[in-house]
Amino acid sequence: MSKSVTAIIVGAGHRSLVYARYAVSNPDRLKIVGVADPDGERRLMAQKLFNLPEDMLFESAEALAKKGKLADAVINGTMDQQHVATAVPLLEAGYDMLLEKPFAISEAELRALIGTARRCGRKVMICHVLRYAPFYAEIKKRLPRLGKIQGIETTEHVSHHHMLVSYVRGKWRGTATAGHHSMLLAKCCHDIDLIMWMKSGVAPVRVSSFGGMQQFRPENAPAGAGTRCLVDCPEAIERDCPFSARKQYLEHPDRWSFYVWRDLETIEHPTLAQKEALLKTSDYGLCAYKTGAEIVDNQTVIVQFADGSIASHNMLTGTPVAQRTIHITGERGEIFGRVDDSRFTVRVLDPHSTDEYREEVVDLNGPGDTSGVKGGHAGGDERLVADFVSVLLGEEPSVSCTSIEDSIAGHMTVFRADQAMESGQVVEIPRV
Ligand SMILES: NC(=O)c1ccc[n+]([C@@H]2O[C@H](COP(=O)([O-])OP(=O)(O)OC[C@H]3O[C@@H](n4cnc5c(N)ncnc54)[C@H](O)[C@@H]3O)[C@@H](O)[C@H]2O)c1
Repeated sequence: MSKSVTAIIVGAGHRSLVYARYAVSNPDRLKIVGVADPDGERRLMAQKLFNLPEDMLFESAEALAKKGKLADAVINGTMDQQHVATAVPLLEAGYDMLLEKPFAISEAELRALIGTARRCGRKVMICHVLRYAPFYAEIKKRLPRLGKIQGIETTEHVSHHHMLVSYVRGKWRGTATAGHHSMLLAKCCHDIDLIMWMKSGVAPVRVSSFGGMQQFRPENAPAGAGTRCLVDCPEAIERDCPFSARKQYLEHPDRWSFYVWRDLETIEHPTLAQKEALLKTSDYGLCAYKTGAEIVDNQTVIVQFADGSIASHNMLTGTPVAQRTIHITGERGEIFGRVDDSRFTVRVLDPHSTDEYREEVVDLNGPGDTSGVKGGHAGGDERLVADFVSVLLGEEPSVSCTSIEDSIAGHMTVFRADQAMESGQVVEIPRV
């Protein structure tokens, strides 16, 4: 293999470009040599960004696969419901793959993709970016100090604006747009993956879960509210609604712009007037209570592992500020922290200390350059693609490195947790 990795972008959307930009800052390690996307404008944008020749532009993953192997790898950032359909022919064509999460939207899809990956013997890495965030990677390195891990407690507090833009009004609001309606799969497959990673290969064996949609239901809309904030909602109602599209998107025009202004992305500097006009017709202008969202807004998951240990994850939405927390307990101590602080505490029992334990506070904020913990997903995005390149170059991978085999337990736990929530039963988690 040549010294740098060559890769083709499959699905030239927001996520693929986040990863592909690594090639711009590290041209000696990664070269983007082609793009596959049915959207002609996105193909053109990628062509300009990476200076691609005409014969390396493809109308779909399937069309690319038919050409055989033209690069070392693909960066597959298609939408959730397209991952398996696009990945299978490309793996069969011989590509290694960086594949977005969730890598499958059902158990049947999971089994199909795992079967193909095993048969083809390709390297498939799933974009569990939080494993690469220094906060979680540094915690992982310190776990041996705790002895056997007995309990893990994680929370994700999804901010109201993230909830609205992605799950109430956005692409992940239900089966019509994402192919599934699992908030746990879309949002928290990262957290469940982190739990599996912290348990280092001990199999999860059973799960229970509770949850539901409490807030954004039509019957909870203010009396007299319209169906579109900027079109038919009375001003007196719209003005006082914190979820109004005007407040969420026009007053914060740069927040989540890659989702909200997706239809304006070919315009270099869209005006506020263009944005307002778009909101009158796009999904992001719908009344938050009347979008038909099928997802839950709160869910709790409890898992038991084969060694008797337990874990729980709480996903709670609507918070003014997003945050993730983790608390791990072992036979000899505990580690806890909030990823948003980039700081965590390790306490280890010490029978020789007057305090009975030793404490280390790990602060990743400095001194010096903190860009490494402030980038996308607490610094995880860039590290993940760097590791993918290292693996393909045959170099030593980082502690965070994850193959598709490592992602099976987390995805299976999510599928079975949703089954448990819907049935009200405790559900077994089989090994795949
Ligand atoms: N790792 C993370 O933390 C994280 C964060 C956000 C989103 N995601 C995931 O990333 C994925 C991509 O999200 P996004 O918002 O970037 O999506 P997007 O909609 O912006 O991009 C998807 C692209 O795929 C293209 N496409 C559709 N069918 C195709 C085909 N057959 N062949 C090739 N291309 C095809 C579409 O035209 C589109 O341009 C999703 O699965 C999402 O859940 C992951």
